[in-house]
Amino acid sequence: MPTLETTVNGIKFPNPFVIASGPPGTNARVICRSFAEGWGGASAKTVSLDASKIVNTAPRYGRLKSGDGEPYGWENIELISTMPLERWLDEFKEIKDKYPDRVLIASIMEEFNKDAWFEIIERCESAGVDMFECNFSCPHGLPERKMGAAMGEDPAILTEVCGWVRQATTKPVWAKMTPNVTHIEDPSRAALAAGIDGISAINTIRSVIGVDLETLRPMPTVEGYSTVGGYSSKAIKPISLRMNMEVATLIHDEFPGRTLSGIGGIETGNDAAEFILLGADTVQVCTGVMLHGYDLVKKMSDQLLAFMDKHGFETIDDFKGKALPYFTTHSDLVQRQAKVKAEKEAARAAAKAAEAADQGITQDENWDGDDFVKQSDELVG
Ligand SMILES: Cc1cc2nc3c(=O)[nH]c(=O)nc-3n(C[C@H](O)[C@H](O)[C@H](O)COP(=O)(O)O)c2cc1C
Repeated sequence: MPTLETTVNGIKFPNPFVIASGPPGTNARVICRSFAEGWGGASAKTVSLDASKIVNTAPRYGRLKSGDGEPYGWENIELISTMPLERWLDEFKEIKDKYPDRVLIASIMEEFNKDAWFEIIERCESAGVDMFECNFSCPHGLPERKMGAAMGEDPAILTEVCGWVRQATTKPVWAKMTPNVTHIEDPSRAALAAGIDGISAINTIRSVIGVDLETLRPMPTVEGYSTVGGYSSKAIKPISLRMNMEVATLIHDEFPGRTLSGIGGIETGNDAAEFILLGADTVQVCTGVMLHGYDLVKKMSDQLLAFMDKHGFETIDDFKGKALPYFTTHSDLVQRQAKVKAEKEAARAAAKAAEAADQGITQDENWDGDDFVKQSDELVG
């Protein structure tokens, strides 16, 4: 009987399904609800030292729907948590008291200031969180204050900040990466080289969800204006799978033993299986929960277990990264295909020759210019 239980960075997860930082983890009430439904862990909505600087707009979401009305793409211009850190610290304690066996991850973000990073880590740690996820990836609003993606797209800054974080705590830390870079390996390498335990990838993709054809204004429209947002949900899965593959390859080649938490468009157990086959240790879900509710985890668990059962995998580690060795260059694909074609042609020619040798020439189309004399000779009785 397969098990979903898995140990990542020394921490036991009852299953690999983690609530991604965002609305589904905005306070203790909803995080406890997610744990009651069966989620293995939760990365709480990102906290900072001074929540009074965080002001959201309404509306702040936009979505794309398919022909049958099902949303597949979601944009948000939401910032990090507006709840004061003092209240979060009480809520972290409350969550751990109620659910000691679930993994509570503090998602943290601060300015480029060593003391601030030390303070936020020390305060969250004393509230009992199990581990940290550094939000180096929020693509809107916060970069205006040189936070979030402004840090995550700059390997030199990451080296310094991740170095502080590593000094500040012995608990596991994941660095959550922005997809809005050309090569996600570069910032990921900087974070891992500074001693960070794992990478979470990806945060949202910079986007403009649309333009209102009545008002002629970009959306989501706030007092007639808009700003660039972050794109999530099913539509981004191919991009997040590609980036997971790139980070998993980096971990395999340069940082064996470090971990990967896959995020982006995951909403089924089969989606989770794909991310794990490409090297993820855990998977995180944000928009999927906003669209389908917390009990989604039950269907995801059943489907992932059925996949494992079908292939005879007992544990997540049995199939983690199994699809990873099958990426290569395009020119290698062309060479492989030419080789297979040549082998098939050689096999066909050999079969034809064998048949002719067996039967002698019984059909006129079997005469061959190259072997004409030999074939004539074989027919001599
Ligand atoms: C409305 C909304 C708010 C989000 N807020 C945060 C946040 O505070 N911190 C963070 O690290 N990521 C945040 N995210 C990003 C998600 O955690 C996740 O990386 C992204 O949405 C892709 O995953 P998904 O397709 O499962 O939503 C937010 C996403 C959405 C949709």
